Amino acid sequence: MDKFLIHGPSVVKGVVNISGSKNAALPILASSILFDKTIILENLPRVKDIDTMLNLLKSLGSKVELYNNKKCVKISKTKKKKFLASYHSVKTMRAGVLVLGPMISKYYKSITSFPGGCVLNGKSGRPINYHLNALKKLGMRYEIKKGYIFATSKGKLKGAFIKFPKISVGATENLIMAACLAKGRTILKNCAIEPEIKDLTNFLNSAGAKIRWIGKRTCSIDGVQNLNKIKYSIMGDRIEAGTFCVAATLTGGNLVIKNFNPKIIQTEINLLKMAGAKINIFKNHISIQGPKKIKCIKNIITKEYPGFPTDLQAQFMVLLCKADGRSAITEKIFQSRFIHVMELQRLGAKINIKNNKAIIEGKRKFFGAELMSSDLRASAALVLAAMAAKDKSTISRIYHLDRGYEKIENKLKKIGVKIKRVSQ
Ligand code: EPZ
Repeated sequence: MDKFLIHGPSVVKGVVNISGSKNAALPILASSILFDKTIILENLPRVKDIDTMLNLLKSLGSKVELYNNKKCVKISKTKKKKFLASYHSVKTMRAGVLVLGPMISKYYKSITSFPGGCVLNGKSGRPINYHLNALKKLGMRYEIKKGYIFATSKGKLKGAFIKFPKISVGATENLIMAACLAKGRTILKNCAIEPEIKDLTNFLNSAGAKIRWIGKRTCSIDGVQNLNKIKYSIMGDRIEAGTFCVAATLTGGNLVIKNFNPKIIQTEINLLKMAGAKINIFKNHISIQGPKKIKCIKNIITKEYPGFPTDLQAQFMVLLCKADGRSAITEKIFQSRFIHVMELQRLGAKINIKNNKAIIEGKRKFFGAELMSSDLRASAALVLAAMAAKDKSTISRIYHLDRGYEKIENKLKKIGVKIKRVSQ
C-alpha cells in the first residue's frame, strides 16, 4: 500500500491540466454494452476506477484496446458474451451497478453483484432500490440471492412513465441507458441533471439515441433499434477542477486551471469568491488567485446539481478551517459523509458535527501529522490539509485517491508542492 509524504506549508503556483471526468467516463463506458458497433472514447482519465470498469467490460466479453498513453480506448464486441458482473469485478466500485441497465436492455439477462465503492452513508449504506424499482417498471424481473441481482426480461424492455422518489445520479444513468433500446417511449421525471449525465446523453444521442430533455428534470427517451459507431471525447473533471481551485484559495496561491468548462462549477466559483479568491473565467480554463485572508462562509449546503456538490464538501471544509471565523457545512446527499473530520482534527482542526451539519471554527493552525485516507474525496481533503500544515504529514491508504485523481502527486509537484509517493 502506497502512502504520501507531504512537507508543508505550500503555496501553489503554475498551470494544472484537468483530466477527463471519472464520473462521466464510467456510465459512458457501461453504455458500450448497448452497442454492436465499435466505439472510441478520448480524454479518458487514467484512474483506478476506469481500469476496474474496463476489466468488468472485458469480463463481460468486450474487446478493450487502450492507446495514446491509455487516454483513448476502443471498445468492440466479441462473440464470447457473458452476463455475470462478479463481486470480484465490482467490489471496489459503486459504478459497477451501471452495467445492469445496459445488460438487461441489450441481452434480456444479467447477474450483477451488489456494488462496492466508498462508504458514505453510515449504517444505511448506499442502496440501489431506485435503480431496481425503476428498471422493474420497464419490465425487468429480478431476484436477490447471495449478494447478486439475478435479472431477466421477456424480450425487449418496454417504455414507461417513471418518477424517481428522490434524485439519484446513478439511477438516472441506469434508466437512461436501459430506455435507449426499449420499445416505445420512456418518460423519466425527477432526474439528476449533473453535467456527467448530460455528457452521457450527448454521447448516446451522437450515436443515434433519441433522448430529449423536455423539462428541467424530465427526460423523454424513444427507444431505437441500435446505436451507431462513434468517437467521443469525455468532458473535463469538475471535481478535480474544484479541488485545485481550493488548493489555490487555501494556500494563497495562483493557478491557471485548464481543460474543463468553468460554467459547470459556477456554484463553487461563487463560494470561492465569497472566501476571497480572485477568479477570471475563460471558455475552457480559469485563473484563480487565493486571498491573504480567507473569509468564513455561514452555511454551505450540499445539494444535487446545480447545487454545491457533496464530492467537494471535504475539500471546502479544509478551506474553512483557515477562514477568519466560524463556518458551517450541511451535508444533504450522504448524511454522514464526515469521516475526514477525525483526521483533520489530528492536524489541528476544530469541527463539531451535529447530525448532518459540521460547525467549523476558523483560524486554525495546522501541524503535520500521520493521517489515513477513508474515501476518495476525503483523501483529497487530507492532501490539501497537509499542504496547509507546517512540517511533514504522512497520508496512508492513498489507493482511495488513486481511484479518482489522475497522478495527483505529479500535478501537485509541478505547482510547487513537496509531495512524495512511498511504496510500503
Ligand atoms: C454519484 O454516486 C457519484 N458516483 C458520487 O461520486 C457522488 O457523490 C454522488 O453521485 C452524488 O453526487 C458516480 O458518479 C460514479 P446517488 P451515486 O444515487 O450515483 C440515495 C465520487 O467521489 N440513493 O445520486 O451512487 C443515496 O444513498 C463519488 O466520485 C438511494 O437511497 O449517488 C444518496 O443518499 C462518491 N437509493 C442519494 O440517494 C438508490 O437507489 C444520492 O445518491 C440510489 C441512491
